[in-house]
Amino acid sequence: MRALSLTEPSTSDWIGDDILHLPRFFSSVKLLPRLREIFALAPLRRMVTPGGKSMSAQMTNAGEVGWVSDKKGYRYEKVDPISGRRWPNIPNEVKSVARDACSLFGHPDYQPDCCLINHYSPEAQMSAHQDRDEEDFGQPVVSLSIGSSASFKIGGNERGGNMDTIILRDGDVLVFGRSKRLAYHSVGRPRKNSNPMLDGDRICCTCRVAR
Ligand code: SIN
Ligand code: FE2
Repeated sequence: MRALSLTEPSTSDWIGDDILHLPRFFSSVKLLPRLREIFALAPLRRMVTPGGKSMSAQMTNAGEVGWVSDKKGYRYEKVDPISGRRWPNIPNEVKSVARDACSLFGHPDYQPDCCLINHYSPEAQMSAHQDRDEEDFGQPVVSLSIGSSASFKIGGNERGGNMDTIILRDGDVLVFGRSKRLAYHSVGRPRKNSNPMLDGDRICCTCRVAR
């Protein structure tokens, strides 16, 4: 599956030089069956923070490594601790959309080794955090949004301070890297009645180069 449009992004898609929002960049309908295959092999689960709190979004992974959190900390693991098997492969559809988006971002040949899949039911959200468990911060983070919309806020490398708000809708791709690679970001609850596709839920596939 190719991205729906590979034209140069208009200036309104850039937030500064290092965040690129690509509205309606891919067809989520084609992606959903691939995600359901992943959920059958590596079920969605609520991970626990090192502090012992259950996260509100359910998560799973595809790729050579998967991001996990438990009382021992945040890290990447080759094996799914629930199934005891390697994580399923990242669907080619996801890889090619991420690669196309990264080319537009000015970072060709993007090869993610992890796709973290977050599933947000109406009460789930994600508080401000940095993506900092990867080895090379020279590699951008790319997310694909499916289903309901949500408000994504992204600020600077310190907690607090001003944040930009981006509404992520079904089919949108977001790339952040370079000076924004370690920016704090948070995600609100899925917006009510914003998309009927997943009964009000939202899925976000976040690609990263972890190793
Ligand atoms: C995350 O930052 O891990 C989630 C991104 C999103 O749900 O849009
Ligand atoms: Fe994140």
